[in-house]
Amino acid sequence: MPGEILTISAGQCGNQVGEQYWNQLCKEHGISSNGTLETDESTNGIPQVFFRKSGNSRFTPRALLIDMEPSVVNGVRSRNDNLFNPRNCYISPEGRGAGNIWTQGFEHATRHVDEFLDMIDKELDFCDSLESFQLIHSVSGGTGSGLGSFLLETLSDRYSKKLLQTHSIFPDTKTSDVVVQPYNVVLTLKRLIQEADATMVFDNPALMSIANSNLDIDDVSIKETNQLISTVISTLSSTIRFPSYSYNSTTSILSTLIPTPDLHFLIPSYTPFTQDFISHPKQFRKTTGYDIILELLDPKLQMIRSRNTTNNMNLSVLDFIRGDVKATDVQKALVKAQQRIQFVPWTGSTIHLALAARPPKFQNTNVTGMMVKNSTEITGLFESLLSNYNRLRAKNAFIANYEESALELNMDIKEELDESYQLVLNLIDEYSASKTMSYVEDSDVDNPDDDLNIE
Ligand code: GTP
Repeated sequence: MPGEILTISAGQCGNQVGEQYWNQLCKEHGISSNGTLETDESTNGIPQVFFRKSGNSRFTPRALLIDMEPSVVNGVRSRNDNLFNPRNCYISPEGRGAGNIWTQGFEHATRHVDEFLDMIDKELDFCDSLESFQLIHSVSGGTGSGLGSFLLETLSDRYSKKLLQTHSIFPDTKTSDVVVQPYNVVLTLKRLIQEADATMVFDNPALMSIANSNLDIDDVSIKETNQLISTVISTLSSTIRFPSYSYNSTTSILSTLIPTPDLHFLIPSYTPFTQDFISHPKQFRKTTGYDIILELLDPKLQMIRSRNTTNNMNLSVLDFIRGDVKATDVQKALVKAQQRIQFVPWTGSTIHLALAARPPKFQNTNVTGMMVKNSTEITGLFESLLSNYNRLRAKNAFIANYEESALELNMDIKEELDESYQLVLNLIDEYSASKTMSYVEDSDVDNPDDDLNIE
């Protein structure tokens, strides 16, 4: 069996996306909302990667639900009978959120670290060989960002041999729903840069626009975007849970997508969204493998808004295709697609292909696809976040909100912000440098410490 994956949802956004995601995994594996199996065990893939099976054939998600205020986690639990292990649900004893202040979330976590580690260690006792952790969170509130950042530091320090993936939801950079978002994002990015092995990046404006064009409902709200995110996160592990010829482990997927450890920010695209993933899909015409591979190149499908559209280069591209496809069609489409996009000169110009099996519960018989790319295009998002940050930081606006909890942490918040900002700038430079051959010629490629954390 592939190594297990432990999923941690943190904060409101993390837990709302997490609920959708667990419902999706349950559906694919024929597991009911109280953990019992509804299908024949021989056809339900390998749920054990994500679920613990107990003696009475009940499946319990290998999941930690963490939030500071109670309503979201309690709501998730009440809507899902007895699916989640109550011991794995954490709500702050103070009963209130982090008020969108990163340092409050981080400081809270430092005081409760033993409880988190205890929850994690108890879950690890039920794993034969954990392969990775994944964190689902928003980077712009206070809990998912601050408490999430602390968890990333702690996991990376304590379980350094395990892969650490994140599914990170970024805010709208044009209209900020919380004024201090830029500080929270920059502080969280420092941890994503330094601690994570892979970060799947989503941004809310792109998600809203995709939801508007793919859902057949009038008033799309932020909650509907969670179906899109959970489509991506579940598809990413589809070849692990329903094994096919290749990509049967997180390690194999990430080592294809992440050629150098520092450049580990990934952009997903998906098409078409079907009733197997979203509740009110719009009609779409019959699809073939050929169409889908080419359609996936459309910037409108990607889950971060396209900003700098010229001179972008890909470090890697991996397509997950599901459905009946003709090998010759797929080959033809891949050759065409490879000619339409640019790759950095030091990797092969290859779009990698993962053929995902269709879970027996799926109704859609059309071909669907997900493209995950590691592209220099990500710098457009970071630049726009930094420009918002600079506007606040130039006036030290609202810094006082961070000072009390920073003091508890013995943290000089201005220094911490400056250091985090610099790391994001360095990342932008690193992505830019990767566009030329000298990027690998100048670097110390033999340094073993730079390898992915693969045990
Ligand atoms: P505190 O509220 O400060 O305790 O932190 P938190 O981590 O719980 O905050 P939250 O997760 O609400 O993060 C705020 C950001 O997440 C804002 O940009 C929201 O628009 C976004 N957000 C909140 N809920 C959702 C959701 O269900 N889906 C999506 N896509 N975004 C969300």
